[in-house]
Amino acid sequence: MHNLNNHISSLREDFTKGTLSKDDVNKLPHLQFELWIQQAIDAKVIEPQAFNIATVGLNNKPSNRIVYLRGFTENKFYFYTNFNSHKSMDIEQNSQVSACFFYPELERQIRIEGTVQKANDELSDTYFNNRPRQSQIGAWSSPQSKKIANRVELDHLITKTEKQFENKTINRPPFWGGYTINATYYEFWQGRKSRLHDRICYELKNEQWDIYRLAP
Ligand SMILES: Cc1cc2nc3c(=O)[nH]c(=O)nc-3n(C[C@H](O)[C@H](O)[C@H](O)COP(=O)(O)O)c2cc1C
Repeated sequence: MHNLNNHISSLREDFTKGTLSKDDVNKLPHLQFELWIQQAIDAKVIEPQAFNIATVGLNNKPSNRIVYLRGFTENKFYFYTNFNSHKSMDIEQNSQVSACFFYPELERQIRIEGTVQKANDELSDTYFNNRPRQSQIGAWSSPQSKKIANRVELDHLITKTEKQFENKTINRPPFWGGYTINATYYEFWQGRKSRLHDRICYELKNEQWDIYRLAP
């Protein structure tokens, strides 16, 4: 443990791959996001669609986890989950969320904040219907975020669902679907030398995007 801690505390990266200024960025943050996620895809970043989402629940207790971005439009970001999960319980209490994408290969981070609401049924149905059958069965079977005794219990739940839907189309469970993050704040972070990183932010004020730089 001691050696490992020494090792961890000595790990250092100096970032040199790019720069970012207010003059470089698109005036519309969703277009800047589009550019960066496209560049992450082109750079073959592993899972560029994965992001961390933080929620705040009862007693102001935060929690966070990785989910997949499954689409975005103008300042709307979609992800899918179980509506009875820990994150969904949090969202029911407090619709404010904070999202973070990390692209180490590009020395970039994107932070997005806003409020979240359930996506419309049509969007959730379309996404669910296009999922592989085994994922559809998983969505019906797993009581996400609930305590279960062991793996066998989960296997039994899967078997039960498989029987229930044998030779049948699997519709979206009522307790599973999409959320839309409505972004009101973005930060695009580009790593620079000696920790003097570039941070360009967008904040929605009176329906206009105010663009400014933050100190690293
Ligand atoms: C790469 C990756 C992608 C994930 N994508 C999703 C997702 O799209 N939806 C989801 O509900 N959970 C996803 N998970 C699992 C979540 O991180 C988490 O374990 C789960 O949603 C339960 O979280 P909760 O108990 O805080 O609600 C993913 C995990 C990883 C590591």
